[in-house]
Amino acid sequence: MRFEKELSGWENGSKHKPIWVNAPARINLIGEHTDYNYGFVLPAAIDKAAYFLIQLREDNLCQMEAKDIGDHLIFDFQDELKPSAKNWQNYFLGVMHYMKSSGKVKQGFNLVFESDIPIGAGMSSSAALACGFGMALNEAYQLDLSKQEIAEIAQLTEHHFVGVKCGIMDQYACMFGMEGHALKLDCRTLQYQYQKIILGDYQLVLIDSKVKHELTSTEYNKRREECERALSVLKKYDPALVTLRDVTQDHLTNFGKDLDPIAFKRCDYVIKENRRVNEACQALNANDLQLFGALMYQSHQGLAQDYEVSCEELNFLVDATRKSDHIIGARMMGGGFGGCTLNIVAESNSEEVVNSILSSYKKKMGTDAESYFIEIKEGCKILDNGALNS
Ligand code: GLA
Repeated sequence: MRFEKELSGWENGSKHKPIWVNAPARINLIGEHTDYNYGFVLPAAIDKAAYFLIQLREDNLCQMEAKDIGDHLIFDFQDELKPSAKNWQNYFLGVMHYMKSSGKVKQGFNLVFESDIPIGAGMSSSAALACGFGMALNEAYQLDLSKQEIAEIAQLTEHHFVGVKCGIMDQYACMFGMEGHALKLDCRTLQYQYQKIILGDYQLVLIDSKVKHELTSTEYNKRREECERALSVLKKYDPALVTLRDVTQDHLTNFGKDLDPIAFKRCDYVIKENRRVNEACQALNANDLQLFGALMYQSHQGLAQDYEVSCEELNFLVDATRKSDHIIGARMMGGGFGGCTLNIVAESNSEEVVNSILSSYKKKMGTDAESYFIEIKEGCKILDNGALNS
């Protein structure tokens, strides 16, 4: 049973029901940097996750143990919670801060967590922490929050405790994921449809460049500002525009001359990427994996050249796949500046194909990349006691 030792040591919580939660990582098939522009995305939850055990206490103490890194966080639930210098703690402090506003939090808890999601790999280990903890608190305190509310609290935590002005894609994928399906999410209305992912003789493989550029959060927030700048200029011509999602290629052709070159490129990318999400779903419905793969390559090119969030290592990994007949689509995934590429690889000799990319990466970059063969799984859930052996 996961966390058995920790549970048996929690004298102070023994009267309360222990609750186990599993919160998965996500991939994004297509639709990158479109969520905070209120466009479309196509993410899915996968078989890598963060695991939590929580049990309420009799007193006011909130005691959290990060098992992987051997670190702790302890506070009184009545304390005013502010961001900490330790990044992992901010997910917990932020979520607890927002949950407390319900007025239903009357006591502390013991919590332990661990995760097998690689950090900084673009698989949203952070949304898994915030969403999983949110679901754990919701259940323990019986807060009756919906999945959407938990996702929004997790997003607020990123904005105000972690400092990344992220969109809502990661939190939605983590909360609403369904086995074998991606989530076609409209980030304006927050309505979504499940998109069945049938890959036939192909499978999903992530290749982790293992690069973690420091730029990630500053450049991410900068992209968001650049998009807002583009929108405010275009709004002068068409006041009906509310988000960059509303901007069409016609707007850009007619009024784009007033945009600075950077804002123009960002805008052009977002318009095209939103269109690609819709085309990608049509391709999947028509079982046209070749077209789906071609759209992934286009997405990567836009992210590298127009949105400028790729890097040499990611470009190398994507270019390496172009030489292979066994890979039909590849692109960088997530915020960018490092992390993973997502690849659609023929099952027949996938190991060999992926290993040859890994060895050419090593030769060129002098460092190791790593591959993860992944499957699309269910979103964040409470595990019942019978399912604890995972
Ligand atoms: C990060 C953010 C998401 C999204 C992606 C890029 O993962 O957390 O909200 O913007 O980058 O698509």
